[in-house]
Amino acid sequence: MRFLCSLDSRISGSTVRVSTWLTMRLVGFAFVMAIAHGQVRYSIPEEMNKGSFVGNIVQDLGLDVKRLKAGRSRIFTEDSREYIGLNVDKGTLVVRERIDREELCAQVSPCSIHFQIILENPVELHRIDAEILDINDHAPAFVRKEISVEIAESVASGARFSLDSAHDPDVGLNTLQRYTLNPTDYFTLKELSRSDGTKYVEMVLKTPLDREEQEQHNLILTAFDGGTPQKSGTVKITVTVLDANDNSPVFSQPIYRVSLSENIPRDSLVVTVSATDKDKGSNSEIAYSFSQSTGIEAMDLFTIDSDNGKITVKGVLDFEKSKQYELNVEAVDKGGQADTSKVFIEIIDVNDNYPVISVISFSNAIPEDSVPDSVISILNIKDTDSGKNGQIKCSMNSDLPFRIKLTSSNFYTLVTDRILDREMISEYNITITATDEGSPSLSTNKTLMLKISDVNDNAPVFQRHSYTAYVMENNSPGVFIFAVTATDRDSGNNARISYFLEDLSVNGVSASSYISVNAESGEILAIRSFDFEQTKEFNIRVKAQDGGNPPLSSNVSVKIIIQDQNDNAPQILYPVQTGGSVVAEMVPRSADVGYLVTKVVAVDVDSGQNAWLSYKLLKATDRALFEVGLQNGEIRTVRQVTDKDAVKQKLTVVVEDNGQPSRSATVNVNVVVADTFPEVLSEFTDSTHEKEYNDNLTFYLVLALAVVSFLFIVSIIAILSVKCYRWRRERMFYKSGANLPVIPYYPPLYADVGGTGTLQHMYNYEAYRTTDSRKSDLKYSRPPTESIISLDSSGAQTLTLAQSMKTYDDSDQVRFITEIDVHISFLLFI
Ligand SMILES: *[C@@H]1O[C@H](CO)[C@@H](O)[C@H](O)[C@H]1NC(C)=O
Ligand SMILES: *[C@@H]1O[C@H](CO)[C@@H](O)[C@H](O)[C@H]1NC(C)=O
Repeated sequence: MRFLCSLDSRISGSTVRVSTWLTMRLVGFAFVMAIAHGQVRYSIPEEMNKGSFVGNIVQDLGLDVKRLKAGRSRIFTEDSREYIGLNVDKGTLVVRERIDREELCAQVSPCSIHFQIILENPVELHRIDAEILDINDHAPAFVRKEISVEIAESVASGARFSLDSAHDPDVGLNTLQRYTLNPTDYFTLKELSRSDGTKYVEMVLKTPLDREEQEQHNLILTAFDGGTPQKSGTVKITVTVLDANDNSPVFSQPIYRVSLSENIPRDSLVVTVSATDKDKGSNSEIAYSFSQSTGIEAMDLFTIDSDNGKITVKGVLDFEKSKQYELNVEAVDKGGQADTSKVFIEIIDVNDNYPVISVISFSNAIPEDSVPDSVISILNIKDTDSGKNGQIKCSMNSDLPFRIKLTSSNFYTLVTDRILDREMISEYNITITATDEGSPSLSTNKTLMLKISDVNDNAPVFQRHSYTAYVMENNSPGVFIFAVTATDRDSGNNARISYFLEDLSVNGVSASSYISVNAESGEILAIRSFDFEQTKEFNIRVKAQDGGNPPLSSNVSVKIIIQDQNDNAPQILYPVQTGGSVVAEMVPRSADVGYLVTKVVAVDVDSGQNAWLSYKLLKATDRALFEVGLQNGEIRTVRQVTDKDAVKQKLTVVVEDNGQPSRSATVNVNVVVADTFPEVLSEFTDSTHEKEYNDNLTFYLVLALAVVSFLFIVSIIAILSVKCYRWRRERMFYKSGANLPVIPYYPPLYADVGGTGTLQHMYNYEAYRTTDSRKSDLKYSRPPTESIISLDSSGAQTLTLAQSMKTYDDSDQVRFITEIDVHISFLLFI
């Protein structure tokens, strides 16, 4: 319809009226006829389908269809290409070939094709112009589908980049009109015209590019034509941003903090520092290093791997040397851009140091009398670790009389805790242990050897409270008697003991005249020879004194007992042996068997066995008539006296003591066997000794008369006493005689006597107690000691008896009394 309209408008100047399509065809034909001498112009769009109606020439030229047929009408083209054909039957022009305006005219506009319609008979030429109208049958198109542009990121804004132009073969509005570019963040599009009027586009950088932000930008350039409908063509623009070293490396942290134990082994990883560089390629290759500002000490201890930033331990860390390190690290890219960071390394203390005990002062010997709290040593105890690892507890082996005091930090004082006693413990090993509180804790020991020096606090001590020593009488002067020993628990000079004799008096004489004591050895020596019969025992005191200052001493009493030797022979008291006089015992002829003729009385001043006397008949006129009591010396008849027996009998009795060797004495006893005194006298007158006897008799008679009156009263008392004495002696004699076989039962008592001698000694000792000499023994027992009293019951009896007889404690007196007795009996005999 539009074509028709346009046709209508174009031919409006003609006379042809077109009312309907059908009528128009007719009219057109007529019109063409009518303008046979003119030109007919048609306008047709390009690209019409074949057979499409172009115009009705019958009408437009005013020709008849018959004429067409008759005139053998045909179309003539100069180039012989027939785009439009003639339908002779209908008298219309139709599209015979595809008409492409762009092919026919390219950019020339308007575009027309010309041809002639030739008729014959008559020849008629009609020129037909057909203007080919453009239709928007082409979109703008780019040659390349994709455009790649590489732009360095360093390029400044305002830079221009030319782009391909699009092409649209259409003309007029249908051809290329404008471009657009999307997106427009970084680039804008600028359309420019060249001097020849052709247009081209450029891309202008609006915002600087950053490869690190976006490495590739994808843009679409679109070209639009002005047709209806509008057509467009696009091209993809890929902008690749080329890297520039515009970024420095950046560490992942401005400061790295690490804690390390001081005992970390070598080559351990400390930390990995890392820096990133947003650039690409070699611009992002980073080398790590310690910067020069890092201390030399730290450089020696740590190392950094320049490729991967690993920091490792190179040396030996020691918390006690440095508690922290600061490493300045640097990351440099190939372009020389750098960043720095710090690594703070804190060293954690490990309990790797033992406490150290140093002795500042030490007195390695202190006197035993030091007061408690006396300072022995000052110690400095340190642990270089810190915190708990460096806190020290100080202790000492227990049970020692010492104490450790903390005086000030790290300083300890070792003091005494109690009074010391060198004599108990003379040295101490004091082990001081310092333990830190780390986990596990470490400890150190220190042993101090402390000597306790001696103070003279102990006196010498004798082994016994008293000593008893024995010495034989008749000893040679200077003989060793005994040695006393004292000990002193102190040491050195304080224990060096000297012995001294205390100058007591013994029997009124200074002890030093009897005894001397060796100061060094404590040996007791006799100075003189002792006589048992004079002194039986005495006491001395020996003092032991040490060498301390002041010295200490103690004393001990030593009883020295002089032991008897058989140095005295028995002495015969009765019958008295006088020079010329004859003493005779009278035996009546009527005497029975066992008649007591007389008794031989003897004493021995020795004691014990040495004084134990036995009597034997040595010689006799008639051995068969008399016998002598072995122990008691009694002479008795053994058979009935007969008339045949001689009047005068002479007996010799030997008295022996029991000493070794034994000593003896002999006595002659005259016995007269007669019933009357004259008988006796006659017998004695015959004797060879008669004259001597008479002289003696005269002397005795005078003497007797002289003394009889003087001693008469004394005699009365004496007789009584002697009777008493005799009674006792006999009793004891009997007893001792009776007891003799029993003596072996005595020994249990001997130990009490305290003798250190042999059994023989003890036996002797006991024996003499049972004899006469008992008295003289008692004489020296002053005052009687407990031990003597408790000897035995007989001893006790003896004692009481002895006390009652104190007035007769002299054996001489006894002898005297016995003599008196003899004389009185002689007088009576006369
Ligand atoms: C102290 O130690 C020393 C040396 O180890 C040793 O000879 C001595 O007997 C010890 N003394 C004591 C009282 O333990
Ligand atoms: C002997 O020692 C005692 C103490 O044991 C003392 O009382 C006495 O005085 C001392 N005698 C002498 C003579 O030193």
